[in-house]
Amino acid sequence: TTYEVGYVVGSLSKQSINRRLATALSTLAPAELRLTEIPIGDLPLYDHELDADFPQVGWDLKRAVEASDAILFVTPEHNRSIPAALKNAIDWATRPWGSNSLDGKPVAVIGASPGKVSTAVAQQHLKNILSFTNSPVLGQPEAYINYSDGLVTEDGKVTSEGTEQFLRQFMEAFSSHIRKSRDE
Ligand code: FNR
Repeated sequence: TTYEVGYVVGSLSKQSINRRLATALSTLAPAELRLTEIPIGDLPLYDHELDADFPQVGWDLKRAVEASDAILFVTPEHNRSIPAALKNAIDWATRPWGSNSLDGKPVAVIGASPGKVSTAVAQQHLKNILSFTNSPVLGQPEAYINYSDGLVTEDGKVTSEGTEQFLRQFMEAFSSHIRKSRDE
């Protein structure tokens, strides 16, 4: 079985190291996973008053999430939590009230930062949120990518063999997690 994996990059930066990481993951993923980006940069700040006249960008996001068999979050850490843009996208995906597009969706979380504890604290917060949205999260392996200059090239090539091997294992574990969550 082939699985469609929508990935969300938590950074809006064009130079984002997490976007580079996502590109690398797309090529290192096992053949049964097809990765496509779900963009979040055009979403306005969520306001529940918009539920009555839900904007097209909101529906586009929800439909993209629903059309995916699984979602991969590739995110930096901002002030020891997830970036506001990512939280905003999750809020959009869970609304209008009663229509949570993340319900039951298998997910995995990974992120890169040059900081000493990488994105560990942000990922912990994100996993709390994903527990509330009822989205089964891949528990192991955890993936806190300590970014040093040149670790991933602009076109998504990983320059450390150890890291490349780890990222392959991570995507294989995600693939089994998706299969199990879908009871296949
Ligand atoms: C950061 N950065 C950061 N890094 C970290 O490890 N822990 C943190 O809490 C923060 N906080 C933080 C807040 C804000 C507002 C910014 C802009 C940055 C640094 C961050 O890891 C670095 O900018 C990465 O390059 C961000 O990843 P992208 O955007 O390149 O994918």
